[in-house]
Amino acid sequence: MAIISFNQPLKNDFFLLKISGKYKADMGQFFMIRKDSQSMFLNRPMSVYDIKKDGIIFLYQVVGKGTSVLASCKKGDEISIYGPYGHGFPLNVKGSIALVGGGTGIAPLFYALKQLRKNKKLKFIHVYLGLQKKNEFESNFNDYTDSLIVHYGGFITDYIQYEKYNVIFSCGPLKMLEKIDRQAKNHGIEHYVSLEGRMACGIGACLACAIQTKNGNKHICKDGPVFKGEEIFYYE
Ligand SMILES: Cc1cc2nc3c(=O)[nH]c(=O)nc-3n(C[C@H](O)[C@H](O)[C@H](O)COP(=O)(O)OP(=O)(O)OC[C@H]3O[C@@H](n4cnc5c(N)ncnc54)[C@H](O)[C@@H]3O)c2cc1C
Ligand code: FES
Repeated sequence: MAIISFNQPLKNDFFLLKISGKYKADMGQFFMIRKDSQSMFLNRPMSVYDIKKDGIIFLYQVVGKGTSVLASCKKGDEISIYGPYGHGFPLNVKGSIALVGGGTGIAPLFYALKQLRKNKKLKFIHVYLGLQKKNEFESNFNDYTDSLIVHYGGFITDYIQYEKYNVIFSCGPLKMLEKIDRQAKNHGIEHYVSLEGRMACGIGACLACAIQTKNGNKHICKDGPVFKGEEIFYYE
C-alpha cells in the first residue's frame, strides 16, 4: 500500500491524484489502482499523467463506482497501486509530432510530452486537446509544447493541421482515433493510438480487454495500450 499525497478536485468531475513513493514508467504505460478490496473489487487502470521525485500523479474523471470511490480518498489515506504495465508510446520518433487527446485520453499525453521534450531528433511538438468544458489542467501543457490548441465541445480533429506532422500520438474516444487514423493514412503519418478499453487483471491473465486487431487477437493491457493506428478496427 502507498500513501495519498493529494486528491485534488478539478472542474467537471476531474481529479488530480498524487501517490507518494518512487516510480518509473515509460510514456503511455499505466498502473492499476484501487482504494482497498472492500470498497473496490477490481483495480482500475490509470495512465501516468506525471512522475515527480516523490510520487506519481494521475488525472482521472469520475464516471462510475470505482472512480467515485477514488474521488472519496483523502490525503494520508492508503491506496493500492501496481505497475507500470503495458507497452507505451515509442521513444524513437523523429521529425515533427502532434499529440492529440480527447477527454480522459488527455491524461497520458502530459507525461508523454515531457518525455518527448528530451528527444533531440524532434523538430517540434504540437498538442491538441479536446474537452467538453474548460478545465484547470490544459495550461500545464504550455510549459513543454511548441503549440497548444484546446477546443471545447465539438471535435478537436477538425483543428489538426495534418500536413505538418510525421508522427501522431493519440488517445481518446474511438471515433476520434478513427478520424485521425484515416487522415494519418492520407498524409503518410506514423500514427500510434492508446486504447482505453475495459480491464480486470491488467496483466494478460483474463479476457476482459481482448480485442480483434488486423494482426489477430490482442490484449490491450499486455500488447497495448499503445498500438499502431493501422492495426485497429475502429468499432465499439
Ligand atoms: C490503459 C488505460 C488507461 C486509462 N487511463 C485513464 C486515466 O488516466 N484517466 C481516467 O480518467 N481514465 C482512464 N482510463 C479509464 C478508466 O480506467 C475508467 O474510466 C475506469 O476504470 C472506470 O471505472 P468506474 O468503476 O468508475 O466506472 P464503471 O462503473 O466501470 O463504468 C461507468 C461508465 O463508464 C464506462 N467505462 C468504464 N470504463 C471505461 C473504459 N475504459 N472505456 C470506456 N468507457 C468506460 C462504462 O461503460 C460505464 O458507462 C484508462 C483506461 C485504460 C484501459
Ligand atoms: S485486463 Fe485481464 S487480460 Fe487484460
